[in-house]
Amino acid sequence: MDENIGFKNNFLWGGATAANQIEGAFDIDGKGLSSADFIEYIPKEQRTKDNHMEVTTEHIESVLSGEHSGRFPKREGINFYHRYEEDIKLLAEMGFKAFRLSIHWSRIFPSGYEEKPNEAGLAFYDKVFKTLRKYNIEPIVTLSHYETPYGLTEKYNGWMGRAVIGHFERYAKTVFKRYKGLVKYWITFNEINIINISPFTGGGVISDQLANPLGDPYQALHHQLVASSLATKALREIDSDAQIGCMLARMKHYPYTCNPEDVLKAMQDDQMNLLYTDVHVLGEYPNYYKRFLKENHIELKFEEGDLEILKSYTVDYISFSYYMSLLSANSEEGERTEGNLMNSLKNPYLEASDWGWQIDPIGIRIVLNEFWDRYHKPLFIVENGLGAKDKVESDGTINDTYRIDYLEKHITEIKKAVLDGVNVMGYLAWGPIDLVSMSTSEMSKRYGFIYVDKDDEGNGTEKRIKKKSFNWFKHIIQTNGSHL
Ligand code: BG6
Repeated sequence: MDENIGFKNNFLWGGATAANQIEGAFDIDGKGLSSADFIEYIPKEQRTKDNHMEVTTEHIESVLSGEHSGRFPKREGINFYHRYEEDIKLLAEMGFKAFRLSIHWSRIFPSGYEEKPNEAGLAFYDKVFKTLRKYNIEPIVTLSHYETPYGLTEKYNGWMGRAVIGHFERYAKTVFKRYKGLVKYWITFNEINIINISPFTGGGVISDQLANPLGDPYQALHHQLVASSLATKALREIDSDAQIGCMLARMKHYPYTCNPEDVLKAMQDDQMNLLYTDVHVLGEYPNYYKRFLKENHIELKFEEGDLEILKSYTVDYISFSYYMSLLSANSEEGERTEGNLMNSLKNPYLEASDWGWQIDPIGIRIVLNEFWDRYHKPLFIVENGLGAKDKVESDGTINDTYRIDYLEKHITEIKKAVLDGVNVMGYLAWGPIDLVSMSTSEMSKRYGFIYVDKDDEGNGTEKRIKKKSFNWFKHIIQTNGSHL
């Protein structure tokens, strides 16, 4: 029997980003508007659940009419569009083996439904992927990371429209052909489960236009799942050397107490989180989901062949984000805390970040083992990290020891999962260079090893500065995590 000694030699160490959080240049070289371009920065004191993330028809109209006076930081990003060479060089200096980024769909098909792609958009990613290859960095490319072209929202209310499947398929085929040989790892939808938590973010769906705001997004999900399988089919035909994975925001639920009622609730909440990977990996809707639909009077519309498509084109690997764990209880009474698009009862055994996200390194070992036991598919951690406030000292240094501590604890637990026998392909830290926060559009919620001089109001020089964690992560990669 082989003795497992730790991370494999070709382990994909690196970091992950999304186009809308880094690129900027939102209206340059033919790019169309996307859902992310409508998300406004709202200072914390004025933020409510309803005025950030989920937009209303009224908000969209006021932005389009030019009457809206707000700032839209995802239109600016960190100007990666013009600074990608310098940024990739810094990632290469850290020894990155892989860099995850998304293609901004509306750069390639500005409204989402054109017949022909925008050459200038394609040419931009040619340059980015070639630069990554120059430094032997493997691009890990997400097709859709919260960037639905606005044209699809206008025409179909985003992924509610069945026709969007065909538009996505055309987009996927276009980029698979164009980047064949340059890109070997693809991901279809970032955190596909978010469509049911934040439909505009996850699929350009405006909830106030839905007859049943809770149930209808499950139809949009069905369209995304079919589209993901069709993209898988297309990749196998176009580039059989490449691999394609799904992506889940893994939200592990622990029971609040050992009361069997709480344990059952945690199991059910976990099932509803794993529903998405169950379909992507096992190729069919699980029974607990059918029961959920029935009990909630949600009727999905299928077309002939949909179920066969889901069954025939399952993924090569499972990628996921992991930031925190959650608690489930039969009664929702008790102190609550914030989280990644979901809040939860507070876990008294865990500390939390400044944004209230509960820090749970052991949880990542648990979810890796559970994934492995359930699916026996390679696993890829494509997001993990600590959003924190960084301070530039008078000597110009940034001593982010809290970030090192967070990451080291998580990577140590991942290594234990590897020793447990789990097949882990790689680890990508979220936001290796500071970027615009997805949930708050802040710059001050920083994840990076590289600081970007820009504040929440958009002021700053955009200068890049290495933080203390830069050399720490470089060492982890150099030693393949052997000292952990
Ligand atoms: C993930 C998203 O859910 O969390 C990223 O895929 C996001 O886009 C990350 O940036 C961290 O969330 P936030 O809100 O702190 O930026």
